[in-house]
Amino acid sequence: MVNYSMDNEKSIAHPDESRRVSTTDDIEVSTYLEIAREIGGQQPAVTEEAVSGAEREAIIVLDFGSQYNMNIARRVREAQVYCELLPHDTPWEKIAPLNPKGFILSGGPASVYEKNAPLAPAYVYESGLPVLGICYGMQVVAKQLGGQVTPGTRREYGHAVLHLSDMDSPLFAGLPESTTVWMSHGDKIEEMPPGFKALAYTENSPYAVIGNSKNIFGLQFHPEVAHTPEGKTILRNFVYKVCGCKGNWTIGHFVSESMERIREQVGNGRVINALSGGVDSSVVATLIHRAIGDQLTCIFVNNGLLRREEVERNLKVFKNNLGMNIIYVDATDRFLDRLKGVTDPEEKRKIIGEEFIRVFEDEASKIGRVDFLAQGTLYPDVIESVSSVSTVSAKIKSHHNVGGLPAQMTLKLLEPLRLLFKDEVRQVGAELGLPEEMVWRQPFPGPGLAIRCIGEVTKEKLEILRSADFILMNEIKKAKLYRQLWQSFMVLTDVRSVGVMGDFRTYGYLAAIRAVTSEDAMTADWARLPYDLLARISNRIVNEVDGINRVVYDITSKPPSTIEWE
Ligand code: XMP
Repeated sequence: MVNYSMDNEKSIAHPDESRRVSTTDDIEVSTYLEIAREIGGQQPAVTEEAVSGAEREAIIVLDFGSQYNMNIARRVREAQVYCELLPHDTPWEKIAPLNPKGFILSGGPASVYEKNAPLAPAYVYESGLPVLGICYGMQVVAKQLGGQVTPGTRREYGHAVLHLSDMDSPLFAGLPESTTVWMSHGDKIEEMPPGFKALAYTENSPYAVIGNSKNIFGLQFHPEVAHTPEGKTILRNFVYKVCGCKGNWTIGHFVSESMERIREQVGNGRVINALSGGVDSSVVATLIHRAIGDQLTCIFVNNGLLRREEVERNLKVFKNNLGMNIIYVDATDRFLDRLKGVTDPEEKRKIIGEEFIRVFEDEASKIGRVDFLAQGTLYPDVIESVSSVSTVSAKIKSHHNVGGLPAQMTLKLLEPLRLLFKDEVRQVGAELGLPEEMVWRQPFPGPGLAIRCIGEVTKEKLEILRSADFILMNEIKKAKLYRQLWQSFMVLTDVRSVGVMGDFRTYGYLAAIRAVTSEDAMTADWARLPYDLLARISNRIVNEVDGINRVVYDITSKPPSTIEWE
């Protein structure tokens, strides 16, 4: 469910800003490791990644706070131009090395006529580079270059029809004369700055697109959202036809650049990585392995909370097929012993986090000297850690009392994916030849089946859950729905109910099917799975899985529910 609640772009309070908003399986692993490092008092150096050597070119999005800003960067990158989202007051010294070819000023919740409203730094206009202001960013341009912005008498929110008045503008190449756009603004431009002219209008906005002869443009609407169908073309036109970019941001290019960079950074050093089988840690391990071979050691911890065949499949791919150096630890008993009698979900999470660190450090200390810890940190985490609300720091709080890595391990961080969005990571995975089922794996939470086994976690219940989950996954994949769903899994409740099988009365567990669609796990909608598919899943589960005699379908969305049951 896409939820474009851009109410004048004031961020709606997210329904859930706890650790549970994490979307990738691997975040969990990296969070444990991060906490461990923090507690050990070591601050590993994070090195900035090079983009593309001499040919490097970038579009810089200056962030004024709209919650959809990341979409701008994604759209530009989809056009194969490297793009970074940086705070609106980033100093020029940080931007110059990126070789900027143009600026995009993002939307945001402020009003330019308010006291202390954030504005663009002088270099934006002094550099002579093209500028594209979007919504609030357009008002920033208007105000700073001598126009006038006033509070609108009427808010314009939702779809509007844009009519182009200057078809020759390079921004509009390939566009029809009129097209739908998505508006979300209260303030409006009363008077354009000197030298600007209106290039397009809507019924309520005479200045829906403005521009001057110095390649400074403003859009009153949002080209970055799906509700503006020609938005991608406009952004593409800006980066190619206005900024003159060459378009050298390709995944193949990234892979070769990044391998070179890893070799340079690591030298003769040794790297360890916690492999979870999730997309990010799998891609990071494969990329590093491709670059430095056996200097990489992966530690794969089986916490006894994984799904059926997960361990075997991972070992097959990484050990047998890719020939990686893997230390496999079956720590099932350690984890299950500590989970005995525990029913509180938060307590389960805490125990699993702590135990993970303990096992990891036991294994790592056997390896001898290690120089780097590889992590699958992605660009959204990097951006989030710059802003005030960080899911990572929120999670750290909830896990704060785990122990640290051994003091003698002074590790530097190796984060080759820190400039990538999730979809780019998948592309890297595919480029490196990882199996499709790994590259497109649905997120799986770090605490695994423990939070899908309601109440106490026991070996018996885990086995029942695994069998049911295996059937569900099998049917979802057969129905070709796996990739359309954000997540689909079974939950084993603690409820038992009476049933009848043949001539016998049964008393078995109630299991629930959970299947949701989502963009980012912040909100989710229950998937409208076909009835006959639900019937097949239910039928197979009650017939094939001993211990389950009733299956229900969870038809709640998030919010008010969460995706997981615990
Ligand atoms: P909820 O249940 O909060 O889940 O709607 C949102 C997303 O986060 C995943 N999730 C977790 N991931 N550790 C994780 O690594 C956790 O403790 C955890 N709890 C929830 C969940 O699978 C969904 O993708």
